[in-house]
Amino acid sequence: MRATDPSTDPTTVDPTDTPSTSSAAPTRRIVLCGALVAAGGATLVACGGGDDAKDDAPAADKVLGPVGDVPVGGGKVYDDAKVVVTQPTAGDFKAFSAVCTHQQCLVGSVSGGRIHCPCHNSDYDANTGAVLGGPAPRPLAAKPIAVTNGRIVLKPA
Ligand code: FES
Repeated sequence: MRATDPSTDPTTVDPTDTPSTSSAAPTRRIVLCGALVAAGGATLVACGGGDDAKDDAPAADKVLGPVGDVPVGGGKVYDDAKVVVTQPTAGDFKAFSAVCTHQQCLVGSVSGGRIHCPCHNSDYDANTGAVLGGPAPRPLAAKPIAVTNGRIVLKPA
């Protein structure tokens, strides 16, 4: 169980590391993801909005682990990479920043279609990253991933 006070929680991310820009205009990533979805070939690429999409993006491909670590209908939080990967339906993997948009705790679990942050009980949709409840002000940012040789790979942003 994680501490509920982000100021004393060692897994809390320094909010100064998070870009605080906010814009109503779509980012290049969102436009690119939209184009990939339109092309019909993006089932292994997570797309979505969020201002902290560049948090801790790897400089090169980073293997997170085997696909078997991510249960259908659930997910797994990769604390070191600060990424949460979900599998809403069999073979459909999604990835989001694991940094809660409220006070930057790492989210803690995935169940019942929800990604849960234990610090102040925010919930996010495991399929879209959208806020479902709690104080979180914004969705979790989508992260680009691929499945290669049975492993989930976090791609550079
Ligand atoms: S940090 Fe407050 S709900 Fe996640």
